[in-house]
Amino acid sequence: MLNKMKMTTKDVLLARLKEVQGRWISGQVLSRELSISRMAVSKNIGTLRREGYRIQAITKKGYCLTDSPDRLVEAEIKPKLNTRIFGRKEIYHYDVIDSTNIRARELAEKGAAEGTLVIAESQTAGRGRRGRVWVSPQNDGIYLSLIARPWLSPVEASQLTLLTAVALADAIMKKNDLAIQIKWPNDLLIDGRKLSGILTELRTEGDMVAYVIIGIGVNVNTTLKDLSTVTDQKVTSIAVETGARSSRLQLLQAFLEEFEDQYTLLGTHGFGPILERWKVLSDIVGKMVRVDEAGHTLKGRVVNVEQTGVLVVKSETGEVKRIFSGDLYMEKNELLS
Ligand code: BTN
Repeated sequence: MLNKMKMTTKDVLLARLKEVQGRWISGQVLSRELSISRMAVSKNIGTLRREGYRIQAITKKGYCLTDSPDRLVEAEIKPKLNTRIFGRKEIYHYDVIDSTNIRARELAEKGAAEGTLVIAESQTAGRGRRGRVWVSPQNDGIYLSLIARPWLSPVEASQLTLLTAVALADAIMKKNDLAIQIKWPNDLLIDGRKLSGILTELRTEGDMVAYVIIGIGVNVNTTLKDLSTVTDQKVTSIAVETGARSSRLQLLQAFLEEFEDQYTLLGTHGFGPILERWKVLSDIVGKMVRVDEAGHTLKGRVVNVEQTGVLVVKSETGEVKRIFSGDLYMEKNELLS
């Protein structure tokens, strides 16, 4: 059985302070409501302040929460989140973790529900596609893994990766005046610079999917100095592009809502409308590309992206090839056109 993570006293205290945000609540009332001593109230207030919460205290009036830090904890995420599944179930938050995908997989194996969210302020071993590292500096990016249990076959499961890219691109564009492009299979780019990556991992049971872990990294307030540890790709962050720091929390909420909308759409209308949106955002069909796959390079024109995310390329010799994975590059003349 899954060992459910209970909300700590500090989380409950914070949730209560948020309910009355901007107004005063006495230590006595808090101590009675939470069934803890006044001393414990004061100790937990101290911990919250050290985490960046601004809480005023005046004798006889009590406590008043005036400002919250941009921390991706349950008490911040849930109150303004308009979803029923994703981010609505258990939220496992870590200041530091090796990889949210690893933790999410452990939880999924123990039966964690669809919608479970694992999120971290930083990762020491953030994993990217094809064995790459995902740079995950403290408090600057969004590093999360969602557990989904879709009613899909393993082949269809790749649709979730494309669906995630669409939901994330649309959420970022809703919150920022930026033009996001999807690069096959699942990178988000701005003018050719990588902003976000998606790593999905799954386990099958018979001919169905048992669970899918959807891992997402977004460079939100990350500086170019932090990102420069990645050498083989051009990278960027929302802050670098807009020139200003922005709320990771609001972006996270927008993404979870967009993701759930698309996930529901998949169930009601199938993958067609999502693939259409993906094609618009990737603008890849008809373009000349080069794909590097397991040491082989293929040049040609993209003729289609199939329902499973497979890229169909007509090579220079006229041969039509279906490509399942690889690194894609636009041919230079196409970028200029
Ligand atoms: C890629 O573009 O190569 C995929 C990057 C995915 C990174 C995210 S960060 C959160 C989650 N945990 C991981 O270890 N990786 C994914």
